Amino acid sequence: MRILLSIIIGLQIQIFANGQTLPKEVQKCHFGDSDCIVDKMNQVIKNYPKGIPEIGLKPIDIVDIKNLTFGNGDRNLSSWITLHFFNHVNYGFENTTITKVSGFNKDPTKNKLEISGRIPNLVHKGTYFANGRLYLVELNCTGEMTTEFQNFTFNLKFKVIPEYRNNKLYIRVYELVPLVAISRWVLWMEDFFIENSDLTIAVNHVINKNWLEFWNELEPTLLEGFASAFNNIVEDIFNKVSYTDLFLPDD
Ligand SMILES: *[C@@H]1O[C@H](CO)[C@@H](O)[C@H](O)[C@H]1NC(C)=O
Ligand SMILES: *[C@@H]1O[C@H](CO)[C@@H](O)[C@H](O)[C@H]1NC(C)=O
Ligand SMILES: *[C@@H]1O[C@H](CO)[C@@H](O)[C@H](O)[C@H]1NC(C)=O
Ligand SMILES: *[C@@H]1O[C@H](CO)[C@@H](O)[C@H](O)[C@H]1NC(C)=O
Ligand SMILES: *[C@@H]1O[C@H](CO)[C@@H](O)[C@H](O)[C@H]1NC(C)=O
Repeated sequence: MRILLSIIIGLQIQIFANGQTLPKEVQKCHFGDSDCIVDKMNQVIKNYPKGIPEIGLKPIDIVDIKNLTFGNGDRNLSSWITLHFFNHVNYGFENTTITKVSGFNKDPTKNKLEISGRIPNLVHKGTYFANGRLYLVELNCTGEMTTEFQNFTFNLKFKVIPEYRNNKLYIRVYELVPLVAISRWVLWMEDFFIENSDLTIAVNHVINKNWLEFWNELEPTLLEGFASAFNNIVEDIFNKVSYTDLFLPDD
């Protein structure tokens, strides 16, 4: 998740001792000062949607997500479907508001770290491929798709393991547990029945009307995608920047 990324960036923004010019308006916080950390993360998200290459912060406004496959269709049933979503891009992370953090203490390995926030509208655009069977009808279709997760709230709990380099503490994420909730999911798949646009509309309509059931079914896979994207991003930052340097000196 770019969010975490940004967060981290927020923490570390002045750490570079090697003369890189970093935004002066973002100050560091004391260890464990959660209110301050929330504040700085939100500043970074707001002010640097295109990222901060010097510290490895990638753009926040457009995020790639790994390919996902939903529904391991039990092919013995009269109806089954497998959906593959690929080449996806996400929009909306730039409108993230961090609402709560905890655990960013001097020794972050002693406790879980936690970050919560909200994204008003998380939009994915990409390509889908669906195959399966609806009773006697074989499904084999592909097209463009757009989905919107409206009022996306998230909570990420994770543990970190320490690594010392040059006498400095670096951290690596493991055991990441994401929780997410949405108020509504809107999905649109083009060309579901390429020769029958009425049927395509009908299928999309059914999905959107029953979005909660689809969401419940797809959520585990989505969480997996979410966790992996998150890991991907923070991995780089934590690797480049020492945890200690993200904060004001203790004394
Ligand atoms: C599907 O049917 C085949 C053959 O009838 C059987 O061997 C297989 O175990 C079944 N798979 C499942 C998941 O029930
Ligand atoms: C996603 O799938 C597409 C189409 O199969 C492929 O071209 C692309 O390389 C895949 N991307 C990743 C990150 O695996
Ligand atoms: C993010 O917020 C801006 C300003 O409110 C808005 O114009 C934009 O559409 C939002 N992005 C998404 C993907 O919702
Ligand atoms: C699905 O469609 C693709 C391309 O239109 C075709 O290559 C493939 O063989 C089809 N698969 C099935 C199971 O019909
Ligand atoms: C967004 O979701 C949160 C938590 O699920 C809920 O408390 C809030 O009322 C929702 N806001 C809107 C505008 O739907």
